[in-house]
Amino acid sequence: MHLHPTGHFDNHARTYRNIKVLPLAAAMGAEILGVDLRQTTEEQFADIQQALFHHKMIFFRGQKLSHAQHEAFSLNFGAFAEDAYTSGIPNHPNVHPLIKEADDRSEMVFGGGWHTDSPFLAEPPSITMLRSVEIPPFGGDTIWANSALAYANLSDTYKRMIQDLKVHFSMRNVLKSAQAGVEQRDSPIGRLGATRDLERLPEDVLRKVKGNCHPLVRTHPGTGEKAIYVDGAYAIGIEGMSDDEAAPILQFLVGHITQPAFTCRLRWEPDMLALWDNRLCVHEAYNDYRGYRRELYRTTIAGEVPR
Ligand code: SIN
Repeated sequence: MHLHPTGHFDNHARTYRNIKVLPLAAAMGAEILGVDLRQTTEEQFADIQQALFHHKMIFFRGQKLSHAQHEAFSLNFGAFAEDAYTSGIPNHPNVHPLIKEADDRSEMVFGGGWHTDSPFLAEPPSITMLRSVEIPPFGGDTIWANSALAYANLSDTYKRMIQDLKVHFSMRNVLKSAQAGVEQRDSPIGRLGATRDLERLPEDVLRKVKGNCHPLVRTHPGTGEKAIYVDGAYAIGIEGMSDDEAAPILQFLVGHITQPAFTCRLRWEPDMLALWDNRLCVHEAYNDYRGYRRELYRTTIAGEVPR
């Protein structure tokens, strides 16, 4: 079902005492104003978290944060997650560089393809925070899709059909694309691509290829909201179904979640911080800025076993 962009969209800002909120698109996303992320109060943080759960992705402009300040703000949300791709930067193991150099002509970019972060882990990260330092003059946007709104727009019959299914998530297809389409560089995706020359994959990569099965309909632990937990990059099957049986369901659901009516798109500028809730949305980074450098830093917050 593809929607005409009318209907039951509610991305209104709620009333907050300690922050100002400007909704971004009809489906999701909001800019948060009136906060200095180097010194948020407890009351501001409570409003920020509520706004995140409501809008699924929120962002701040004009926040020139050091790596330590980025870490300190992140820790308001909980402990850091295992990052499936990098071990961080010197002295800041939980701050992960996402840098694409101007001369990198790789066909694949880190974060390309619709995905939720690392669902192949037993406990995927709950929240991701991305801070921009250098942004190309055009391109390099990130786009998100609201998988809770997509769930709400399914028919009751389809909801019943999928309610007990579990999705098999694996790094398998991303690994294959990295082995085929990235230059060998000292970057998260470059290092993954370099495994093409190994006789045997490292244990750690094998664990992520084996992956995990999680509920297709996921309930948010903070709000009880239900969302479709499926993506285009890591969902490779449905537990108890043959590949032929699972493929049309996965294909329909990814197409359903990512239709333009359910998305918002961020045009980055330096010194932004964007946060999203991986339990309620999927996202994709564009690889459309060849010849320009893009530099961002990412932290991820530990999540729970999806239910
Ligand atoms: C990501 O998927 O975490 C990266 C998104 C981006 O680089 O825009």
